Amino acid sequence: MSTADSPTDLMERIVALCKRRGFIFPSSEIYGGFNGFFDYGPLGAELKKNIRDCWWNDMVRRRDDIVGLESSIIMHPKVWEASGHVAGFTDPLVDCKVSKQRYRADQLFFAAVVVDGKTVGYVSALESERTAEELQAAAENFKRKKAIQGKIEPVQPHDMTEAKPEEIPLIPSPATGEPGSLTPPRSFNMMFQTNVGAMTDGSSVAYLRPETAQGMFVDFKNVVDTGRVKLPFGIAQIGKSFRNEITPRNFIFRSREFEQMEMEYFIHEDADWAKCHQEWIAWCQAWLLSIGLPESHLSLYAHPKEKLAFYSKGTVDIMFKYPFGVQELWGIAARGNYDLTQHATASGKPMEHFDEATKKKFVPHVIEPAVGVDRILLAVLCAAYAEEDVKDEKGNVEKRTVLRFSPRLAPIKVAVLPLIKNKPELVDVAEKLYRKLKRKWNVFYDETGNIGKRYRRQDEAGTPWCVTIDFETIEKDGTFTLRERDTMQQKRITEAELFALLEEKVY
Ligand code: GAP
Repeated sequence: MSTADSPTDLMERIVALCKRRGFIFPSSEIYGGFNGFFDYGPLGAELKKNIRDCWWNDMVRRRDDIVGLESSIIMHPKVWEASGHVAGFTDPLVDCKVSKQRYRADQLFFAAVVVDGKTVGYVSALESERTAEELQAAAENFKRKKAIQGKIEPVQPHDMTEAKPEEIPLIPSPATGEPGSLTPPRSFNMMFQTNVGAMTDGSSVAYLRPETAQGMFVDFKNVVDTGRVKLPFGIAQIGKSFRNEITPRNFIFRSREFEQMEMEYFIHEDADWAKCHQEWIAWCQAWLLSIGLPESHLSLYAHPKEKLAFYSKGTVDIMFKYPFGVQELWGIAARGNYDLTQHATASGKPMEHFDEATKKKFVPHVIEPAVGVDRILLAVLCAAYAEEDVKDEKGNVEKRTVLRFSPRLAPIKVAVLPLIKNKPELVDVAEKLYRKLKRKWNVFYDETGNIGKRYRRQDEAGTPWCVTIDFETIEKDGTFTLRERDTMQQKRITEAELFALLEEKVY
């Protein structure tokens, strides 16, 4: 379907389309941009809002067991001490002392160059889909340059967290190509700090939240006391989170300011947590399909037991095949009762639930599906993007770029197009229809350019339908031409049928 040559090309085209059509811009672009921050333009803001609305409707409004919450972004600093973020929300960081570049140690790979069983040097490469091939090529290049004779062995890639102290001075920096400038990995806390109030000393330090989840734990008691909820039940929240990522990358995939949609599902301590975990994994997969992501691009990754935090019972990520590789989209974690217990201990306020049946108090356990809005948006863009050869009205082959968004997510649901703009009878009908549709949906009115060009513009914006008001509309039965984005087929449709179509497809 897509004619892009390579994954890098494809990403570049998607990024270019996002800029050209007003989906996503680099933040503060007139000042050169700001790494890890992005702005959503008119189409992007609509697309993002539609993702949020679909999730909120399906997760909160259409269920009886989940309630919503909007907690503050800056919370008491003790929240982050109790949650473990102050001590442990870190990534391993490696500095290059010469270039001043910073790398995440687990994303910087190295390998020994081994010739005839002897290590003769080291090569390095940043993590990519082709890390091993790049390291192999670099090793062969190293051997050639140094005119070393003998048989080179296949490289064994390791990341910098695995480097032995004596190896670090020998590993070349990716920035300079020379060894000797990389520091040993050290822990870097990813929370953004700020000061609250007039003082800027240690006592006023606060943090921008790195996840929305803690709001749900801290307000657990408030919701239980006011929300008439009964176990099992969930609290859901959508909101911005902030992480000072060492290496923001892959466009909006890993940024420093992003939006999360998280839900904490509280269950009885004796409940079958594994079954509940599986049910939520299935729910999340089905939801991704409902917004149009193809099943072929989704897969599951179960975190190995030995890499889980001590309190965690299991984490499964739903992975998406992005052009730059298969990456985490949605994490579904079984977190036991760790978070509520931590906050109960630190605040001195009990977080227990009373079991009417056994007359016993206990701290509920939690299953947490946590996903990034921006990551979903990027997955949706990548899956929807296509370039095709099509024939114009004269039979000439031309390229069309199309975003095949599901109608649920499409930023513009319908474009209303009067066939010609200098015929008042046509324009009058078109404007009336446009105003009527606009009460319920985001629709677009376009009267400039020939009709073929107007269709193409809507294809690039991902608009599922165009409605053309033509002479048949005003001279015959009042029907319009409905042009379907994906098939490009056209048919006559009445106003009532158009409204019924939208009601059915946009929910
Ligand atoms: N409360 C659990 C939690 O926050 P996480 O795996 O760190 O877990 C959940 O984040 C989701 O948030 C991820 O699966 C991803 O979709 C999104 N996310 C995390 N860091 C991100 C970043 N730097 N940029 C964009 N999205 C991010």
